Amino acid sequence: MAQGFKFQEGLPYYLAKFDREISQKWQGQIVESGDLKISPAAAVLSYGQTIFEGTKAFRGKDGNIRLFRPRDNAKRLQCSASIVGLPLVPESDFFEGLKLVLDKNIDLVPNYGDGSLYIRPLEFGSNPLLGQTLAQEATFLIWVSPVGEYFAGKGKESGLRLRFVGRPRVAGTGIGEAKVAANYVGSLVLRDKWVNKGYSDIVFGKSDNPHVITESAGSNAFVYLKDGSVVTPPLDGEILAGVTRDSVIQLLKSEFKIPVIERQIEFKEIEKHAQEMFFTGTAWTVAPVDLFASEASRITFSKKALSTRLRSSLFDIQSGVGDDPHSWTHIFTP
Ligand SMILES: Cc1ncc(COP(=O)(O)O)c(C=O)c1O
Repeated sequence: MAQGFKFQEGLPYYLAKFDREISQKWQGQIVESGDLKISPAAAVLSYGQTIFEGTKAFRGKDGNIRLFRPRDNAKRLQCSASIVGLPLVPESDFFEGLKLVLDKNIDLVPNYGDGSLYIRPLEFGSNPLLGQTLAQEATFLIWVSPVGEYFAGKGKESGLRLRFVGRPRVAGTGIGEAKVAANYVGSLVLRDKWVNKGYSDIVFGKSDNPHVITESAGSNAFVYLKDGSVVTPPLDGEILAGVTRDSVIQLLKSEFKIPVIERQIEFKEIEKHAQEMFFTGTAWTVAPVDLFASEASRITFSKKALSTRLRSSLFDIQSGVGDDPHSWTHIFTP
């Protein structure tokens, strides 16, 4: 059984390069193992031109290996690339890389119910560069690692303890919706501080309103109100358009017949009107909240019924146990 959520060293990965002046084409291959060779002056190391993705492969009860909405990751990588000025990886190259890396690591996809194979595509500016210009050479790679439960050992049934910090997560206007490293680095110290105090993660506020919640460091927020509707913050350029977020919205609306409203929501509205709260993402899937605390108040939740149902519906689709009415899964044939 795969343990926890950690990177496994030494596995084969896919590596491709693109040179704007030479070939204008991605040229990729499998690297059997080992580290990357990179110039100390590589564009990414000074100017931070780097973007990434995250998805998972699941082995079903029927033995088939399924990817969950991989086309959406290919599209989101392209969207991030265009925001930070990296060359786009065409969908066909993205899928070619996925196929090669999965073929090589196929035996590492955990058995049904034992975890999944985490897949991390990433792209960065790799030529040596002095002076702020767009990188001329880009590197695209895909590494994989078998993973188990994100909160391993913390009790599957227990919920999240989250600290609302009010400040914004994203680095600035214009790149807030990109899955770019710059949106992550600024919150690492603060996140570490609260995780060391026993919280699972932090939740950010909006840049123009510290009372409005946006998302956590790696997942999207959902609030189930006492009136029976679900509210999730809108895609307003400050949060990531999560693939799980979109899937959960569709499941709620079409299968659960629960209205979902994409709008801003303040901490104090959650305090007064919420019956349940949960967060969604590739790593956490659907995770219920036990405690949502701010500087001034603590909201505790005892209900987890909706998030538990959503989590198992999603897992059943991802692992091929349930129907897949939205054709989200992509069976991988080695
Ligand atoms: C900031 C942030 N929000 C939300 C998500 C959830 O996105 P997804 O459901 O595509 O994993 C992630 C994870 O990629 C993230 O990093």
